[in-house]
Amino acid sequence: MEKKNIDWANIGFGYMQTDYRFVSQYKNGAWDEGALTTDANIVLNECAGVLQYAQTCFEGLKAYTTEDGHIVTFRPDLNGERMENSARGLEMPAFPKERFVEAVAKVVEANAAYVPPYGSGASLYIRPYMFGFDSVIGVKPASEYQFRIFTTPVGPYFKGGAKPITIRVSDFDRAAPHGTGHIKAGLNYAMSLHAIVDAHKKGFDENVYLDPQTRTKIEETGGANLIFVTKDNKLVTPKSSSILPSITRRSILHVASEYLGMETEEREVFLDEVKDFAECGLCGTAAVISPVGKIVDHGKEICFPSGMEQMGPATQKIYDTLTGIQMGKIKAPEGWIKVIK
Ligand code: PLP
Ligand code: COI
Repeated sequence: MEKKNIDWANIGFGYMQTDYRFVSQYKNGAWDEGALTTDANIVLNECAGVLQYAQTCFEGLKAYTTEDGHIVTFRPDLNGERMENSARGLEMPAFPKERFVEAVAKVVEANAAYVPPYGSGASLYIRPYMFGFDSVIGVKPASEYQFRIFTTPVGPYFKGGAKPITIRVSDFDRAAPHGTGHIKAGLNYAMSLHAIVDAHKKGFDENVYLDPQTRTKIEETGGANLIFVTKDNKLVTPKSSSILPSITRRSILHVASEYLGMETEEREVFLDEVKDFAECGLCGTAAVISPVGKIVDHGKEICFPSGMEQMGPATQKIYDTLTGIQMGKIKAPEGWIKVIK
């Protein structure tokens, strides 16, 4: 199979239409078999549930070319499981996780020409999503749904790749204490749009959100969880019931303890103690691990000793090990890598 003629090393995190996408329709209480299609457009009724009451959730994962030339995905079963939870949280019928994993494989295989080559620094981003399809005008769930998966080749989420970023403590909240922060509902991202545009205008790369109830604890950023490293090399990640359970973060906790022998701790992290950490990073499928050089809290700068030029040493080790596992350079824990072809 011939790869598309794309300047892989210089693509950013944007949408580039690929050849095939997967579509399945839920009607009369059941999902149909689903199929690949070349049609990237969707025709919807003006009163569709997704358009009126934002009944939609999504996932994000990547396909990689490994060192030995296979195309693989990373822990897609966990994305399937999380999407089932998101669907339940929005009163949508779950698309079964086993079918999710099969459909991901199908759509990646069909778009193999768009999977960036090994070593290019790019990957194929996979976007599964579902939405209320038929009309609703009273506030209630739709009765028909569409589940789709498209793919797009992507480079780094933050311009500058592995260069440390600056994030600010946001005055806006992302998720309510007993709301939808723990599921991947489109509405959480709609909530963050004003905050991110405002942050960019003021020269920051991302927002870090605090727990809305007490505004004393670190939650996560708009599109990634956070990790910290203490001065004595312990990995600390914020625990909260209103953040997205990041698959990257859960994998990093395992990598840090089982591959790197680090002590790890998942616990509440207070804004007050952030100044004492040695390193900080964002973690997620899109963000991979993006080092944070500085957190700005209302004019007060919290500068990590790792600086603004490069990743801290512990973050670098975690990054190398995690991406080494994803690209087939380091042996993965059982079940983490799904080979597509
Ligand atoms: N938190 C938010 C708000 C996200 O959008 C994402 C991205 O998916 C993550 C965390 C990271 O999750 P994962 O590592 O599963 O991609
Ligand atoms: C992902 O990492 O997959 C996400 O969904 C985050 C989004 C900000 C692109």
